[in-house]
Amino acid sequence: MKPIWTGALQSSLSFFFSFDLLAYLCRLMEELLKQIKDYRAEIEAFNASDDKAVEEFRIKWLGTKGLVKNLMGEMKNVSHEKKKEFGQILNEFKQLTESKYEELKLLTSNFKPQTSNLDLTLPGDTIPVGSRHPISLMTNRIISIFQRLGFAVAEGPEIEDDWHNFTALNLPEHHPARDMQDTFYVQQNPDWLLRTHTSNIQIREMQKGKLPIRIICPGRVYRNETVSARSHCFFHQVEGLYIDENVSFADLKQTLYFFAKEMYGSDVKIRFRPSYFPFTEPSAEMDISCMLCKGVGCNVCKKTGWLEILGSGMVHPNVLSNCGIDPNKYTGFAFGMGIERPALLKYGINDIRLFSENDVRFLKQFTSAV
Ligand code: PHE
Repeated sequence: MKPIWTGALQSSLSFFFSFDLLAYLCRLMEELLKQIKDYRAEIEAFNASDDKAVEEFRIKWLGTKGLVKNLMGEMKNVSHEKKKEFGQILNEFKQLTESKYEELKLLTSNFKPQTSNLDLTLPGDTIPVGSRHPISLMTNRIISIFQRLGFAVAEGPEIEDDWHNFTALNLPEHHPARDMQDTFYVQQNPDWLLRTHTSNIQIREMQKGKLPIRIICPGRVYRNETVSARSHCFFHQVEGLYIDENVSFADLKQTLYFFAKEMYGSDVKIRFRPSYFPFTEPSAEMDISCMLCKGVGCNVCKKTGWLEILGSGMVHPNVLSNCGIDPNKYTGFAFGMGIERPALLKYGINDIRLFSENDVRFLKQFTSAV
């Protein structure tokens, strides 16, 4: 590694007398410049693949016995006039070597490991996406059918007072029909209870006095029931109310028939059975032909070929008067249906408790359901 001329230059005194000193120094300078040129090319072309190669570079060029130091040592052999010029060249060369070293360090320590570990062909991280709850899916479906008939969505409180949930609906205190809708009361104030149906919303809308009324009322309701696979102490309902002049039972039948066809298919059959609700007169339960056995009779429809889906009737005149509406001028119909049962049927679920257990294994099965 040590250039040959260094030793030769210092070798003997006879040298001074046998050569022309000036000519020699010129030649030395030329050779040094050529050497630096070659070094530059070598350094510029150099590439390091790892830390070890960078360290070798440092030792070879910038180490205490490195080539840069070596060249510096030649300074003393350069003629006086050329010292400044050579010094500058040497300095530039030193800077080049140092900046190359910094560059190599940066490339190997910062970028190299990252780029080598980065596999751009790997699939990206998936973001977990939630899905709609089956009860919401069912509710939205029902709402969208009635919205097409001009019904607007109305909502109301789940914690209600006695009057809106019972009394205004022709269910005064001690009425025996209250027994079927036993609920949970707020201890400090027994006038407050958890609503047993969304009919409280209908009362609140009627009290506003803006007629006609055509609303659909979805929401959660509560009843004092034993929790089992078939019943729960809370469930969901959609109720509907239509009040105007000359609304008849024929309107009720036609509206609900349209709903049944949209919901369960155009070949569905419906039937009305007389029933009793204190807030409607006359009252009727509506059944649809069982969609599983097509009316033949199966376990789901208990061999009858029919499934009960909703309660309905003409709004009782007492209810209208309770809300300040003249029953001689206005008539109306109302209906109400549970959401859980049709959802159980549609999605083939056999336990109502699954709806409220928040088990992700259950819920994620509805990711692409409609
Ligand atoms: N409110 C009744 C219930 O919850 C359903 C219903 C609404 C029946 C409107 C008739 C008319 O059982």
